[in-house]
Amino acid sequence: MKEKMLTAFNKQINAEMYSAYLYLSMEAYFQSINLPGFATWMRAQTQEEMMHAMKIYDFVFERGGKVSLEAIDKPASSWDSPLAAFKEVLKHEQHVTSLINDLVDLAIKEKDHASNIFLQWFVTEQVEEEASADAIIQRLKLTKDSGSGLFMIDAQLGQRVFTMPAADTAE
Ligand code: FEO
Repeated sequence: MKEKMLTAFNKQINAEMYSAYLYLSMEAYFQSINLPGFATWMRAQTQEEMMHAMKIYDFVFERGGKVSLEAIDKPASSWDSPLAAFKEVLKHEQHVTSLINDLVDLAIKEKDHASNIFLQWFVTEQVEEEASADAIIQRLKLTKDSGSGLFMIDAQLGQRVFTMPAADTAE
């Protein structure tokens, strides 16, 4: 793998680890305001981000590259409301989408077809990441801070279970 591509993948591992850290911090926030379902959703999201980081880690290794880990930034530890937290999730995911798009652009520029194909999974994943955050924002807006509305959303979000994609458990 070319040096430029390797550097960019290593940066993306850090971005995915930061995502996990951010959502773990949000889990702690939701636990602190007694919304266990929101916290469960964030735990699953944290595990998903760790899986994203490891997927890239394994790919770099498979291509003969050396993974090098950088420091992970400190995330915020509280938000004004559940809606404020989910607005940050969406904003963050839009940022990650732009990072993935930049990686695809680089893979094309470097004529690195294997990386380009690998990254397509992330392109599709980001569509889902943004859509699920946006759907929760819309539900939270409908509740207009009503306690019973929040309680219902909390019950729904609490049903989320993280499952490792089949391709990642095959080996
Ligand atoms: Fe790994 Fe939420 O993007």
